[in-house]
Amino acid sequence: MYAAATAPLTSTSPQLKLHPSLCPNGISLGFSLTFPGKYTTKKIPLSSVNPGLRISASASSPVSAEASKVSSVPAEMKAWMYGEYGGVDVLKLESNVSVPDVKEDQVLIKVFAAALNPVDFKRRQGKFKNTDSPLPTVPGYDVAGVVVKVGSQVKNIKEGDEVYGDIHEKALDGPKQFGSLAEYTAVEEKLLALKPKNLDFAQAAALPLAIETAYEGLEKTGFSAGKSILVLNGAGGVGSLVIQLAKQVFGASKVAATASTGKLEFLKSLGADLAIDYTKENFEDLPEKFDVVYDAIGQCDRAVKAVKEGGSVVALTGAVTPPGFRFVVTSNGEVLTKLNPYLESGKVKPVIDPKGPFPFSQLVEAFSYLETNRAVGKVVIHPIP
Ligand SMILES: NC(=O)c1ccc[n+]([C@@H]2O[C@H](COP(=O)([O-])OP(=O)(O)OC[C@H]3O[C@@H](n4cnc5c(N)ncnc54)[C@H](OP(=O)(O)O)[C@@H]3O)[C@@H](O)[C@H]2O)c1
Repeated sequence: MYAAATAPLTSTSPQLKLHPSLCPNGISLGFSLTFPGKYTTKKIPLSSVNPGLRISASASSPVSAEASKVSSVPAEMKAWMYGEYGGVDVLKLESNVSVPDVKEDQVLIKVFAAALNPVDFKRRQGKFKNTDSPLPTVPGYDVAGVVVKVGSQVKNIKEGDEVYGDIHEKALDGPKQFGSLAEYTAVEEKLLALKPKNLDFAQAAALPLAIETAYEGLEKTGFSAGKSILVLNGAGGVGSLVIQLAKQVFGASKVAATASTGKLEFLKSLGADLAIDYTKENFEDLPEKFDVVYDAIGQCDRAVKAVKEGGSVVALTGAVTPPGFRFVVTSNGEVLTKLNPYLESGKVKPVIDPKGPFPFSQLVEAFSYLETNRAVGKVVIHPIP
């Protein structure tokens, strides 16, 4: 079993190789990165590197002992904030931020891990300023942690529960001012689910927004058993889960997906039957057409040429070409609860980019990496003090 060497990022683009292998807890995927020219592939045993590199999940994995470290709730906390829109330089780590109050339908979570999404940096850049909450902002949608306080109307979640979720019900429309990139965050009960028992906090944080987007998009296309699908951007946070859900949850007859040359084996390890190298082939020129095209990159004009007559094209970003349609994810803890059996059985696995997890202090580096648009699966922030 091997995992990525923590080689520094260079201006040359790294080639990602995946090494699926069997381990006592199920299937584990190790990575190695080849940096053309300057670096050669370096493999190091998975057991000797950060456990966050694992993208495996099984019913018997040990749960982190972190949860036992929860103590009384302080009045102030550390949080990443920005007071103006802009690049990564507007992000500041503050030490004296008030711990948020809980409303009656909310719980307070001690955050153990968070994950970044492109919406975090697009929001920080001011792209959604017309519908955003007022500045200053604590960024962060995805969270995994332990409940330390519950509001008076909370019914099913109690103190001490290990939970995960996307804390903003509407991604673009009035997201909360205080997000998950902090020691504590307040979240509505309905946006959360109990953390799958086999996943640690870093693995759980890698899921909510991406898996809810993957699921909602598939549902909106009317995807069902026996249908074929083409996923544009199969290696990213959302696409890596669309491939797995289409195959494992919806019963796809065929899954095709696009990525660059070094990530084709990775697509296959997720369950793709056909991995298309977008640097060498135009997917819309292939003779084969698909029942559904899931566009997770912003190529709807080309996506509509790859769908069968009467098929469906869903787009997450960019301009929409009919019959394609676009939607914005709605956070929903019930979707996570529904998918928990697939996660606990290991049929669907979180994917953590091998450059991470990034510790809380390295949020700027984590954002800079995500913003290269080369991340594999999710960029995770862990540990959080
Ligand atoms: N509407 C919604 O509710 C919603 C929800 C979630 C996300 N989104 C949007 O959906 C998009 C994807 O999100 P994400 O989190 O999955 O992104 P991501 O993880 O940052 O995607 C990174 C991946 O994109 C791949 N990529 C770059 N150019 C590509 C191309 N031309 N063809 C195929 N793959 C390409 C890269 O692979 P290579 O290195 O191989 O190129 C990389 O692995 C973002 O724009 C995001 O804002 C929208």
